[in-house]
Amino acid sequence: MTPVTTTPGFVRYRPDLEQPFPDEQELVRQIVGAMERANRQVAAKHRHGLRDAHAKSHGVLAGELRIEPDLPAHLAQGLFAGPRSYPVIVRFSTSPGDLRSDRVPAPRGMAIKVIGVDGPRALDDGATTQDFLLVNHPTLPFGTVGEYAELQELLERQPRESDLWQQSTRLGARIAVRVSARLGLRPPRALEALAAPNHHILGETFHSMAALRYGDHVAKISAAPRSEDVRALTGRPVGRRAGDSALRDLVAGFFAHHSAEYDLRAQLCVDVGRMPIEDASKRWPEELSPHQRVAVLHLPAQDPYSDARRRYADDVLSFSPWHALEAHRPLGSIMRIRREAYARSSDFRHTVNGVREREPSSIDELPA
Ligand code: HEM
Repeated sequence: MTPVTTTPGFVRYRPDLEQPFPDEQELVRQIVGAMERANRQVAAKHRHGLRDAHAKSHGVLAGELRIEPDLPAHLAQGLFAGPRSYPVIVRFSTSPGDLRSDRVPAPRGMAIKVIGVDGPRALDDGATTQDFLLVNHPTLPFGTVGEYAELQELLERQPRESDLWQQSTRLGARIAVRVSARLGLRPPRALEALAAPNHHILGETFHSMAALRYGDHVAKISAAPRSEDVRALTGRPVGRRAGDSALRDLVAGFFAHHSAEYDLRAQLCVDVGRMPIEDASKRWPEELSPHQRVAVLHLPAQDPYSDARRRYADDVLSFSPWHALEAHRPLGSIMRIRREAYARSSDFRHTVNGVREREPSSIDELPA
């Protein structure tokens, strides 16, 4: 096998970095089928088609992605090749495929759609968008398609569980994680995910969790609070007396008077052994390769949750890691399964709601 690194040590992208599982297609079929069954139940409950994951939005923003000037050659790749600015739409969400109370802690999502991007596409979709889908945790507890299939039964039960049941499970998980820490034990990964605290969504750091092509190289992407006003929100608990829509209220309250900036960062792969591409549950060590700023995401003060915006972002738009330039092709088994999962979820809700899916070609398509 030819070496996969180039000087000064960044792994060079090539297609055979991906190693599909022998029975991957069958696992994908099972997982996507189970997700579709859950999605049908939720649509029947609400008489409206929702996303199969990250159904609840908390803010939909217009902004700008400013690529850093003078990036070194290994970072000046793909979308980040030159110092220009792109319009973006950002949708903040929480992970369940149902409309849960914001009193129940849940992983937070930040989906960024960059508009007006030219270049060869990862899929032949005729679009000019580049999406980055990020969650506020660096790794996925179930990082391969095989492990994900095992999780599926648990996920299938989710829509039927009450908010109260979910709140108690998470409280139990937090206690178990604390007890494990006192005993010097490492808690199971699934328990850690359930035990996540209920913090202000805007102060979080968001991660792609899985790898993607980064032009000549391979990277994970993250977005971290940059401006003082959002950094001040990191770790701030959502109040105990908060209502069911606490996160939307916090986001709307913040952007009524403040702008926000996040650093968009790339962590380049320098060692495919210690920074695996096929297993998204493995954290890439920052001592081997730090997250480096490649752009600044600027979100000005605005009304982030008008009815027209919510309808547009929730019902018309779709975000997917496969809305991508070939230079940012999603990589690894979790990314491959997402190709099928996102298309099916999006088709389902657009069909049920009688809404045509449309990739924006201009920021003017986002209603005020
Ligand atoms: C690397 C790990 C992952 C990350 C960072 C991630 C992140 C996200 C985010 C941020 C959204 C919301 C997008 C929006 O605002 O519209 C989303 C939606 C979604 N995710 Fe994931 N996700 C991951 C893994 C998965 C996996 C493994 C599956 C399924 C097997 C999946 C299925 C979905 C589906 C079906 C949607 C809704 C698609 C739609 O109807 O438009 N995700 N994800």
